[in-house]
Amino acid sequence: PSTTSSASPVSQVLVASNRGPVSYTLGEDGTLDAKRGGGGLVSGLSAVDDKLWVCAALGDGDREAVRRGVGEPGVRMLDIDAEVHADAYNGIANSVLWFVHHMLYQTPVEPVFDAEFRRQWAAYETYNRAFARALAEEAEPGASVLVQDYHLALVPGMLRELRPDLRIGHFSHTPWAPVDYFRLLPDDIAEQLLHGILGADRAAFLTRRWADAFIGCCTEILGGTGRTRIGVHGLGADADFLRERAHEPDVDERMAALREQVGEGRKTIVRVDRTELSKNIVRGLHAYRALLEARPEWRERVVHIAFAYPSRQDLAVYRDYTAAVQSLATEINGQYGTEGWTPVVLHVKDDFARSLAAYRLADVALVNPIRDGMNLVAKEVPVVSDQGCALVLSREAGAYEELGEDAIVVNPYDVTGTADALHEALTMSGDERSGRTKRLAEAATALPPQAWFLEQLEALRQDELPR
Ligand code: F6P
Repeated sequence: PSTTSSASPVSQVLVASNRGPVSYTLGEDGTLDAKRGGGGLVSGLSAVDDKLWVCAALGDGDREAVRRGVGEPGVRMLDIDAEVHADAYNGIANSVLWFVHHMLYQTPVEPVFDAEFRRQWAAYETYNRAFARALAEEAEPGASVLVQDYHLALVPGMLRELRPDLRIGHFSHTPWAPVDYFRLLPDDIAEQLLHGILGADRAAFLTRRWADAFIGCCTEILGGTGRTRIGVHGLGADADFLRERAHEPDVDERMAALREQVGEGRKTIVRVDRTELSKNIVRGLHAYRALLEARPEWRERVVHIAFAYPSRQDLAVYRDYTAAVQSLATEINGQYGTEGWTPVVLHVKDDFARSLAAYRLADVALVNPIRDGMNLVAKEVPVVSDQGCALVLSREAGAYEELGEDAIVVNPYDVTGTADALHEALTMSGDERSGRTKRLAEAATALPPQAWFLEQLEALRQDELPR
């Protein structure tokens, strides 16, 4: 697709995000090993020629790469002071903003916004300012800058001050909190965050629901969204890439291994997540146990394949959650398992080929987050499924807006309801399942990553921007 806009002669595109498209590990012998990441943004940006991705150096390997001047063309890694980064990323982004937007606080005792919070907030400002300065330095006159996510909420406002000539977009990949919950934040911080994003010409979200919540916060707290336009772009699955990748030999190998673990003639309930509090893995396991308890006919006849890949392990609450998932899986296996049947097969080592293998052989996919910006697993499974897969989907996932009609929809807090939904999914007829899977796959691929990215870019470039 062409990236030349009729509305603007400038084609340079800059993207800013905490995590970049490449990361480095430092070997014991001093060598640097580069690992390229995937995801919607990587494949979206591949549609553009003149581009620069500004991201943070995240570990020792990345920092060493910056020091040695090693890098990928089109990527600028910022070597922000490690303590500043830790306070901004672990302290504010992941422990405050993520918790607010996913409504994860145990509110009788938290959050506590004290002097330590203020200290971390100052680091978050410093970290955002480093991005704004780098973008201001790199952008050609009139360039388009697409700032990503809650890590960088202050960047649009800061960048606007430095470079009023730029077209600035901000994209939130998370949900947005409803105003009553957003107001847990100290008033000055809430205002600063909203003003930060409103420094953009366009603020965009994955679903209408999150966009409306943002508008609600701006209206109640600031009296409106000012001149910033609000967009909705529902990132879809990358069908061509997934279908091809899911049929490579390593995926076939992993399918054979999984089949062996499952055993002949048994049905499978599959889930694939980062071990993330919002993904609701523990309640999912409780629901599976409730299924085995209430409907003993499923014992020995079904296996729950759960992939829970470690995430944000610097934070104690994530480590505890990971441990809770593992111990509950062990408990269920102890309680119901037999000589030839392991009820829960839990894998924690991230392996994309194995995830695709599980997608292909799943009879049922369980996607039950308590809150989720979109959830691409719900969109990827129907695309690669071999024989049709019933989708049990939380109504609190952004994907529900597009997939709700052909999924079996659950309230993620309702364990009994989720167990019933699993039973319904397991007993769905083959015809019904393949009909639904086909429709789910169509809805899931309506806006593949490149189109998703170009849609945002075009909207940003074509809007009238009198300044
Ligand atoms: O959902 C928001 C998001 O930024 C995703 O884009 C990404 O998958 C995840 O959070 C990143 O988490 P982290 O970079 O902390 O591992």
